[in-house]
Amino acid sequence: MTLSALMIRRAEPSDAGFLTEMLCAAVNWDDGRAALTRAQVLADPTLARYVSGWPRSGDLGVVGERGGPVGAAWLRLFTADEPGYGYVADDVPEVSVAVLPGWRGQGIGAELLSELFAIATDTRVSLSVERANRARELYRRLGFQTVAAGAQSDTMVKILR
Ligand SMILES: CC(C)(COP(=O)(O)OP(=O)(O)OC[C@H]1O[C@@H](n2cnc3c(N)ncnc32)[C@H](O)[C@@H]1OP(=O)(O)O)[C@@H](O)C(=O)NCCC(=O)NCCS
Repeated sequence: MTLSALMIRRAEPSDAGFLTEMLCAAVNWDDGRAALTRAQVLADPTLARYVSGWPRSGDLGVVGERGGPVGAAWLRLFTADEPGYGYVADDVPEVSVAVLPGWRGQGIGAELLSELFAIATDTRVSLSVERANRARELYRRLGFQTVAAGAQSDTMVKILR
């Protein structure tokens, strides 16, 4: 199948379950670690808050389809009281992204992020990525810059406009 077969659409309320699946994929990016189950992810408020109540005010997401959903990227605003891992400010939404394992490395993640940033009205977006995650290089290629470095993770920001 060619890349042109990828269809990208807006994430809808009915995509909450798929976004949760994609959150689990993002959390479990490291094959070398024991994976958290969906129940464990949802029981951890610092993880569940990336999808809880989807869609809530300010949320924006896209889903990539090739026959069925193969990946998603979405933006959500957080507050200093209940921040995301990549929180920088109340008005800077955080990016989450994942592609189903069998579909990775074919440009889908980059296409989802490019489409998400094209329709976002925000001036900046942020994210947190573990330094060992290859996704960090993708983010750098897409224009993200590291603004804070933790013990194992970087907070990165991209200026959209
Ligand atoms: C990160 C992710 C969304 C990128 O989507 P993708 O469709 O695989 O990415 P693309 O094909 O558009 O771009 C490939 C780049 O993504 C990055 N990448 C990260 N993990 C990858 C993987 N498992 N397979 C392929 N590429 C990966 C690399 O930078 C890669 O570039 P390279 O081939 O030069 O190393 C996807 O690989 C994924 O879901 N990974 C697991 C979940 C995750 O890490 N989410 C982000 C948490 S911060």
